Amino acid sequence: MEKIVLHTPSLEGTVYIGEGAAERLPELLRGQKNFAVTDSNVRALYPDLFSRTFRETPVFVLPAGEENKTFENLGKILAAMAEAGLHRSSRLFAVGGGVVGDIGGLAAALYMRGISCMQVPTTLLAQVDSAVGGKTAVDLSGVKNVVGAFFQPCEVLVDPRFLLTLPAREIKCGLGEIVKYAALDADIFQALRENENRLGELGFLASLVSPCLRHKAKVVEADERESGERKSLNVGHTTGHAVELSSG
Ligand code: GLY
Repeated sequence: MEKIVLHTPSLEGTVYIGEGAAERLPELLRGQKNFAVTDSNVRALYPDLFSRTFRETPVFVLPAGEENKTFENLGKILAAMAEAGLHRSSRLFAVGGGVVGDIGGLAAALYMRGISCMQVPTTLLAQVDSAVGGKTAVDLSGVKNVVGAFFQPCEVLVDPRFLLTLPAREIKCGLGEIVKYAALDADIFQALRENENRLGELGFLASLVSPCLRHKAKVVEADERESGERKSLNVGHTTGHAVELSSG
């Protein structure tokens, strides 16, 4: 298991990368009241995870889709957390892709002025970028990510086994993020060049998650709140759409 410790002024968080990273969950869930946020796709894909590992944990299931990352749904999550009787030492587990990570992370940031957040990214895009670095947000009045916070997760569990259920479109979005890191990091660029014919191989793409996150960790440590260098990481979505268009 690889480990990246991310030191920021607000928190020292740990990213675990590798098969079996999600097996940390039972230990993290032990001992206090917890709460999980996921979406309807992830809930349906991993019935055992929710019926066994999260058996004693209230789980808020967001309808799947970017359009549900709203202020209104954030309010519903916070209300469910209060109803579950969470307290300051409770932990929130965000299990899903970028939408779940964003809205779940923001709920953790706001509840009682901040409880521990564990990110469990299940898409390539979330594993290679969005689950790490503490950006959380929801959309309001049609404006994307206009309500948010920088709130570092205590742990990020990057388990490549989640990628096995991803549709092709999601893989392409993740590849877009990897291409972004290749543009910023010579070693990642070299790895992509030398393996041009393997860009459709999940195993190869998963092997690039760690170098991308190591690059991101350095940038976030230097500029947690995006006053300078971190802005370089904002082109990923555009790159993702370009990858999608170019490969049909
Ligand atoms: N996805 C860009 C960032 O986390 O800064």
